[in-house]
Amino acid sequence: MDTPTMTMLLFGGSGRTGQVMHRVAKSAGWQVVAPTRGQCDLRNADEVSRTVLDSGAQVVVNCAAVSGLEACLDDPLTAHRVNAMAPAAMALACRHTGARFVHLSTDYVLTGHRPGLKDESTRCKPINTYGESKREGELQVLEALPQALVLRVSWICGNPSMPSFVESTLQKALAGQPLAAIGDKWSLPTDAEDIARVVLKLVATEHDGVLHVCSGGEPLSWHDCATLALQTAVAAGALPGMPEITRQRLAEATFFRAERPCHTAMNNHRLLSTGIHMPTAAETLQRVTLRYLAQAQ
Ligand SMILES: NC(=O)c1ccc[n+]([C@@H]2O[C@H](COP(=O)([O-])OP(=O)(O)OC[C@H]3O[C@@H](n4cnc5c(N)ncnc54)[C@H](OP(=O)(O)O)[C@@H]3O)[C@@H](O)[C@H]2O)c1
Repeated sequence: MDTPTMTMLLFGGSGRTGQVMHRVAKSAGWQVVAPTRGQCDLRNADEVSRTVLDSGAQVVVNCAAVSGLEACLDDPLTAHRVNAMAPAAMALACRHTGARFVHLSTDYVLTGHRPGLKDESTRCKPINTYGESKREGELQVLEALPQALVLRVSWICGNPSMPSFVESTLQKALAGQPLAAIGDKWSLPTDAEDIARVVLKLVATEHDGVLHVCSGGEPLSWHDCATLALQTAVAAGALPGMPEITRQRLAEATFFRAERPCHTAMNNHRLLSTGIHMPTAAETLQRVTLRYLAQAQ
């Protein structure tokens, strides 16, 4: 007998993570329904509920967000609607339909004042509008649907068509442009492909609540990430030698208007305890760099 096709309703399917989630789920045999902003505007909670209730989906994944810190600072109402009210509406609608709900959150819900890896029990006190709206989203989702999965991810990379800091650095290095990276802010990079893989594994389990989904290893700065990525590019023969990367301080990055937390690297031990392994940050950067170089050729 054929296994019936499972349907995934995917919000944010046009974004950095959503594009990869769509592709990975589709190739694993899922039927993916990914409404565009024109089909479902997440600023409208009624539209969100209707979309979930009408979808017939067994699984709902929310990769959508107002993810720009400056965008949240400039329009806190939209940030609140999209990052908190919309996921709450999704969770409530999933409670009615019985669908499994996976919501992506962020390490920026953490205060980030103290060095060291943070686990899921670390107290959250976000320091910017983005983090506040995402934290509110986490709380509302779990209040509406305690069985939901809230996956905190950090520094998403690995989708060459939507370059992150890692891909932009490689792009500049290949073009021979000057390089600079902030050296006094730490987290851990996460490959969008790993996030998608983890989502598909977790929806088949009964785990719930907050889980940190990031690479393993010790906290890295953006300068460390750039160095590791470029070392891989040099070893792969894509660059003739190691370019210089000017080390910047966060305080010098005047183009950032919203305050950034400095120490938000998370440990992924709870994820590991579910039997799901993540690569180290160094492995992630190597893999993401080689993927970028392969498509840049
Ligand atoms: N990027 C990172 O490094 C990072 C780090 C930590 C956590 N996260 C979290 O991870 C998740 C995925 O992030 P990402 O970087 O992949 O996001 P992204 O590339 O910024 O994509 C955001 C998605 O949300 C959609 N969206 C925004 N406002 C909408 C609205 N009003 N109605 C409908 N759709 C709307 C966008 O649609 P359009 O294409 O129409 O704009 C897009 O598909 C988010 O929860 C984010 O908070 C990201």
